[in-house]
Amino acid sequence: MNNTVICPGSFDPVTLGHVDIIKRASKMFDKVIVAVLVNMSKTPSFTIDERIEFLKIALGDVDNIEIVGFSGLLADYAKERGAKAVVKGLRAMSDFEYEFQMALTNKKLNPELDTVFLTSDSQYMYLSSSMVKQVASLGGDISFFVPESIHAKVYERLKTGTRKETLK
Ligand code: PNS
Repeated sequence: MNNTVICPGSFDPVTLGHVDIIKRASKMFDKVIVAVLVNMSKTPSFTIDERIEFLKIALGDVDNIEIVGFSGLLADYAKERGAKAVVKGLRAMSDFEYEFQMALTNKKLNPELDTVFLTSDSQYMYLSSSMVKQVASLGGDISFFVPESIHAKVYERLKTGTRKETLK
């Protein structure tokens, strides 16, 4: 039986919450394709190659994971790779409407493709890539939020973009 699934996302950058969901999925399914995709409603801070590099460093110890970048539709990519489901993490009710809309759109485009939601670990419920970016760009400590193996690289990259407004 084909037990390949896709964990898609912007991963801009990958957080401990993402790592937790991907590792849990890797224990449930034979193969997990982690796909860095384009979210047209977000302007990324990292290139797709940088995001792939961070994911590879953070998840290098997991055997049944493949990390890829793709610029088209998730529904098409899932078909091309023979994946039977999309796996996504749900942090709170506020995620639900957006995730539900994406799951139904993907199902319409590829009727073979189901979406499986994993509940976020309670310690990562509040965590998001955009929060990580905001904290780092203002010089804050992101070591609680991103894997230790990448936190210096992520911090260095973001803090160079530090923009301090002068307050009157
Ligand atoms: O981490 P994100 O930004 O919430 O992930 C959203 C993502 C990248 C999975 C979504 O935008 C996506 O699937 N993009 C690929 C293009 C696509 O298939 N769009 C139609 C389905 S919403």
